[in-house]
Amino acid sequence: MIVLYSLMFLGGYISAAGLGLTCPEWPLCPNGVMPSEEYLIEWIHRLAAATTGALVIATMIAALINKNSETKIRITSSLATVFVITQITLGALVIDTKLHAVLVAVHLGIGILLFSMVLLTTLFAFRMARNSLATRI
Ligand code: HEM
Repeated sequence: MIVLYSLMFLGGYISAAGLGLTCPEWPLCPNGVMPSEEYLIEWIHRLAAATTGALVIATMIAALINKNSETKIRITSSLATVFVITQITLGALVIDTKLHAVLVAVHLGIGILLFSMVLLTTLFAFRMARNSLATRI
């Protein structure tokens, strides 16, 4: 949640500061994997997006293989995975279409849906942990 929140905060800054096309290529910026001053903000946005993607997918796998998982957490974590993959693909389209207004708006909308699913998954996980502690006492 912390990584995702920071990613969305940074996305808002990129948009408001007009830095959306400082790195015009996808998936990497013109100088490759390494960061550079020129593309730093966009580079951090993409790194945070990749980290978020890995964390969201790992959470879904953990929720699916845990026998004690409730259906609710399986659904929210799977939806989060669908949204994170859509969101990263959409990020590429936003760049390709040179920040098409509709796509930027959809990018924000899916980001909010993704945040909601990650928040629900976190809340369900805390509830599961509390319940399993209560049954052990
Ligand atoms: C989990 C993945 C991602 C999330 C949650 C996310 C979230 C956001 C958010 C909330 C904004 C601000 C939108 C606005 O204020 O209207 C934004 C902007 C932006 N994002 Fe992402 N993003 C993700 C991945 C990516 C990826 C992979 C790329 C490109 C490779 C990308 C490219 C952009 C660009 C270019 C903007 C600025 C658009 C503009 O200038 O108006 N995003 N992002």
